[in-house]
Amino acid sequence: MAVIAESNTRTEQTTVKQIGVTFAAEVDGVDFANLTDEVTDHIYDLLLEYGVLFFRGANITAEQQEILARSFGEPAVFPISRITHPEREVPFLSEITDTPDSPPDADGWHTDITWIPNPPKIGILAALDIPESGGDTLWADLYAAYDNLSPVMQEFFEKLTLKHVISDVILNAVVRLGKPEAVSYIKEKFPPVSHPLIRTHPDTGRKALFVAGHFMQSVEGMNDKESEMLINWLSEYINNPNFHVRWRWQEGDLAIWDERCTNHRALSNHYPQYRRMRRCTIEGDVPFFSA
Ligand SMILES: [Fe+2]
Repeated sequence: MAVIAESNTRTEQTTVKQIGVTFAAEVDGVDFANLTDEVTDHIYDLLLEYGVLFFRGANITAEQQEILARSFGEPAVFPISRITHPEREVPFLSEITDTPDSPPDADGWHTDITWIPNPPKIGILAALDIPESGGDTLWADLYAAYDNLSPVMQEFFEKLTLKHVISDVILNAVVRLGKPEAVSYIKEKFPPVSHPLIRTHPDTGRKALFVAGHFMQSVEGMNDKESEMLINWLSEYINNPNFHVRWRWQEGDLAIWDERCTNHRALSNHYPQYRRMRRCTIEGDVPFFSA
């Protein structure tokens, strides 16, 4: 475990331990009650280096989570919430509670909200109430996924763009919310968008395999059969455990991840046990590919 930073104003130290083979680190020693620009800049640098950061027992408050989030950029509001709840201001921090009315629905590999032109760049999740067992979250390293392709496949994939579209999982949740009339409006409002399959990270310059589970609708320029086969292949490819890290939550834990170079999957095997998390995302740029 390497000591990588020391506050100028306090004696505390930040320690970082990589926990995945290619990415992901557990960080200790951050005082979320006294965040400074120096500390949040340091966290962002670590995020660029490791892709996913875990803070065991951070016990971050909603206010602290908001301060942390705003240090990374503009807070993003889930675009559907503006449609399903036009009558109220939608807070950008939201609680995810797993209940019979709201069962877990993120048990598939994805990066968040790729069905808009500028998907979020960062996700932040705090564990408030955790079941006795199950409900782990997995992350996949999209840099490693790209790096492990043969040069021939890398070159082929760098030419491709995919259409991303809002998934039935989200539309079904809108129906469950008692807003079935909103579904056709949402589909109209959010038509499919194109993203490169290989994405260049705007800060690191590294290339990532920009897959997004059920949000991937089709491969542009391919016929239906070719497109379906390639999307199935990509879904199978990202399922390789060699690209993954798995976090077993304890109450008070905090995870921060870079949406541009990771996928995540929230296991639902704790259900019907109750779970409560507090999440937010930060607005991102339009994905691009640069050789
Ligand atoms: Fe997600």
